Amino acid sequence: MSSLVIAVDGTSGSGKSSTSRGVADRLGLRYLDTGAMYRAMTWWMLEHAVDVHDASAVAARVDQPLIESGTDPLAPSISLDGEDVAEAIRSDVVNAHVSPVATVPEVRANLIALQRSVIRQALEDGVGIVVEGRDIGTAVWPDADLKLYVTADPAARAARRALEEGGTDADAVRASLETRDRIDATRGGLAVPVGATHLDTTPYSLDEVIDQVVALAERARERA
Ligand code: DC
Repeated sequence: MSSLVIAVDGTSGSGKSSTSRGVADRLGLRYLDTGAMYRAMTWWMLEHAVDVHDASAVAARVDQPLIESGTDPLAPSISLDGEDVAEAIRSDVVNAHVSPVATVPEVRANLIALQRSVIRQALEDGVGIVVEGRDIGTAVWPDADLKLYVTADPAARAARRALEEGGTDADAVRASLETRDRIDATRGGLAVPVGATHLDTTPYSLDEVIDQVVALAERARERA
């Protein structure tokens, strides 16, 4: 699976993170969570008292944070100015403010450049990578060997996210997911990439979804 780039786009809670990590682990590929980068950028803005609803204020500071992503699928990590922020970026305050930050064009341009450099490094090292986000197959790496668009029905997504977030109320999680979806779909980067395979994970276990993607990746490798 050397040098394979797999683009995994889809909504929050669709199972795309667990699927992406599982596939990368099974195939010996690196893993990049681009949502974590948008979250880290948001955390930095909040920590530095930048008004996240003021796009020009956000744009003016976009070059300042140093965001570094670890790409081990079994232990993905993210640091901001050298500090581990893996936990902080999953907080309610980041959930509530990440969409406006992610819609600022300068933020997207900055993070897309960073994401491309991580992908290029993997390819230079002769290792493939699974990249997860909203715009990977459309904007970040349209030449990916395999493009997936992952969805699940809203109740299943809310239940999964509530579980991931430590058993919080599924109704509240569903409301927060739906608000983010609305912003992501209208002003964010979420779109179905040309040539993507649509996976609806609702009826499947995680292992079943990973099996399906591994089979698709094997076919993609034969074509590559
Ligand atoms: O997948 P997630 O919930 O961690 O993503 C957090 C936010 O970042 C979400 O509001 C969408 C945005 N995002 C984006 O705009 N583009 C990406 N490639 C990844 C995430």
